[in-house]
Amino acid sequence: MPARAPLMSLVWTDHVTGRQGFLVVDRLVRGVASGGLRMRPGCTLEEVTGLARGMTMKEALHYDPEARYVPLGGAKGGIDCDPRDPGAYGLLVRYLRAMRPYIESLWTTGEDLGLTQDLIDRAAAEAGLVSSVQAVYPLLDDEATARKRLADAFAAEVDGIGLAELAGGCGVAESVLAALDRAGVPYAGTRVAVQGLGTMGGATARFLARAGLTVVAVADVRGTIARPAGLDVEALLAARDGYGTVDRGALRPGDLELPGDAWLSVEAEVLVPAAVSYAIDTAGQERISARWIVEAANMPVRPEAERLLAARGVTVLPDVVVNSGTNAWWWWTLFGDIGADADEALAHIRRSMRALVGLMLDRAAADGTTPRTAAHALAADRLPVITDRFGWYR
Ligand SMILES: NC(=O)c1ccc[n+]([C@@H]2O[C@H](COP(=O)([O-])OP(=O)(O)OC[C@H]3O[C@@H](n4cnc5c(N)ncnc54)[C@H](O)[C@@H]3O)[C@@H](O)[C@H]2O)c1
Repeated sequence: MPARAPLMSLVWTDHVTGRQGFLVVDRLVRGVASGGLRMRPGCTLEEVTGLARGMTMKEALHYDPEARYVPLGGAKGGIDCDPRDPGAYGLLVRYLRAMRPYIESLWTTGEDLGLTQDLIDRAAAEAGLVSSVQAVYPLLDDEATARKRLADAFAAEVDGIGLAELAGGCGVAESVLAALDRAGVPYAGTRVAVQGLGTMGGATARFLARAGLTVVAVADVRGTIARPAGLDVEALLAARDGYGTVDRGALRPGDLELPGDAWLSVEAEVLVPAAVSYAIDTAGQERISARWIVEAANMPVRPEAERLLAARGVTVLPDVVVNSGTNAWWWWTLFGDIGADADEALAHIRRSMRALVGLMLDRAAADGTTPRTAAHALAADRLPVITDRFGWYR
């Protein structure tokens, strides 16, 4: 898709700390744009702009003319702060207060890197908002029923983890399985390394382990935990704190503690970056021996690194497809394409992600391009159709 300036970019400077926050609205559909809010030290406007553009594509890629869910535009918010900083919560509340007119009218947001939905909900209430997704309410047929359905879905849990925390990782894992099936590679014996064991990485690791793959390494902000014969994923998930950091006291004898970047070079067929943007650069890619890189995180592979990886036969399955399950699940649930039940939701995510990954890989094969280029081409085909049917503004 040709680069286009976003519809709207905003830099906010906190009057208390001098820290900055950003909101980028890449595109509106029917006057609304969707995109999460991240908090990380060093977050930039450029990063948030790229993420907002990705959201436009994620929305477009899930367009189904028969569905009740109509795609929204793409947006993203970002705050430059360590989420573990004691002042982080106050900063979040002030950011949401400043963004209130946008959240009330055109930007629906939710959790992303560094923030949980619970925290955003609490801070949004303190900032005087009805909900972080209230801008979409006027587009619903029956707002009360839709909100009840979403609240019920948020209350659903599977083996100790909330459905909202599982939806995205379920989509990532299904993308991995679809790629393996296409290549005729059995699940048993396929090794996986994951960077990040928070919402996305944790759920991806769970679903892949349950499908029969061997999770040989996981990295969090404190370093890499590895075990060539396979980690006990559920034990690690249960030992996480609210930021996705694993309590090392829960490790088993024989689990190895390695440096933070060791996950890149462990022997594995599949790498899942599920933490920060720009995790794989040109130097990092040289250390990778995996055959697939599956982008649970947003923008984890630098474009120059991806060119080098493609040249030596490593396939990158792109973020805009692979991690789009969370966003789509919110809307499928709110608009009523699915109910609140976890089994129904996970089955719908699996079906949809498999179909989308298949479409992308078919297009890549037909055009002789990378899957990312194919995904962007699919989104570029759909955007004018969506705009013609629904328009930018309400
Ligand atoms: N949460 C969502 O709904 C969602 C949806 C789509 C995409 N994403 C993307 O997935 C990525 C992760 O988001 P999340 O919500 O799972 O985050 P999270 O805050 O829940 O978890 C982040 C994990 O990454 C680890 N981490 C942080 N910095 C690290 C570093 N430098 N090295 C190694 N590990 C590090 C943390 O310890 C934690 O385990 C982000 O890129 C986000 O944009 C999230």
